[in-house]
Amino acid sequence: MKLSFFCALLSLWAAGSSWADTRAIGAQECHPNSQPWQAGLFYHTRNPYNLLCGAVLIGDRWLLTAAHCHKPYLWVRLGEHHLLKREGPEQLFRVTDFFPHPGFKKNFSAQDHNNDIMLIRLPRKARLGPAVQPLNFSHTCVSPGTQCLISGWGSVSSHKVQFPLTLQCANISILEPRLCHEAYLFQFSKHMLCAGLWEGGRGACQGDSGGPLVCHGTLAGVVLGGSEPCSGPRHPAVYSSVCHYVHWIRKTMKEN
Ligand SMILES: *[C@@H]1O[C@H](CO)[C@@H](O)[C@H](O)[C@H]1NC(C)=O
Ligand SMILES: *[C@@H]1O[C@H](CO)[C@@H](O)[C@H](O)[C@H]1NC(C)=O
Ligand SMILES: *[C@@H]1O[C@H](CO)[C@@H](O)[C@H](O)[C@H]1NC(C)=O
Repeated sequence: MKLSFFCALLSLWAAGSSWADTRAIGAQECHPNSQPWQAGLFYHTRNPYNLLCGAVLIGDRWLLTAAHCHKPYLWVRLGEHHLLKREGPEQLFRVTDFFPHPGFKKNFSAQDHNNDIMLIRLPRKARLGPAVQPLNFSHTCVSPGTQCLISGWGSVSSHKVQFPLTLQCANISILEPRLCHEAYLFQFSKHMLCAGLWEGGRGACQGDSGGPLVCHGTLAGVVLGGSEPCSGPRHPAVYSSVCHYVHWIRKTMKEN
């Protein structure tokens, strides 16, 4: 099966997708601002219909996301929960400083999803508070069986793409890498994590790309992609494994 990126492409909007204040594929609304490192990446300032990807705050000026979310510029929202309501802690930044991993291949048709990870530098420091806090990233790699939490404003329905207005959370497990090898063959590599439910029904979907996989209270992965429709049985989602990129993250943050 083809491994597809989980960014919310603009073409999806044209294809009859809709918005609903509904429940998810196995997810539920997160307690507001309980994931203060969660960021949303948007094409335009005010229009929530232009969500592209998720991202994770890892320092007061730095976010981690997926390299396939790279655009000439994007709007970052921090402290966000309900996309249409102004609730107080929201912070907005226009970003142009992107640092995709140098090993990421931009040629999407080659189906090489390695090193799909990118740093974003904010133009000024984020104001930290209860609703905006960085997440430490994991230096040790997680093992299969670990319980983790994912969050995002990605699609909550796998057949007809439906986007929620509030941030959604779901508990999932790290699965054996061989299960993703079976599902995606050579497209799955050793710098990726396989996570979800083997029986399907819960997991990341379109619009969740770049968002966090939090295990033991630290960032273990960023959403890369999976099958379409998402969360089908035997097709868990795939994450870039953060523990393999600690050196590159540190070096890039130090030099820029
Ligand atoms: C992209 O990858 C495809 C499939 O491997 C290949 O045929 C094509 O030449 C590549 N394009 C570029 C610009 O490298
Ligand atoms: C993050 O890491 C720093 C330095 O290692 C540590 O002091 C801090 O307590 C950690 N924060 C959390 C929330 O684990
Ligand atoms: C995830 O699991 C934890 C611990 O079992 C539970 O407290 C939390 O409510 C769960 N969250 C979701 C979104 O299911």
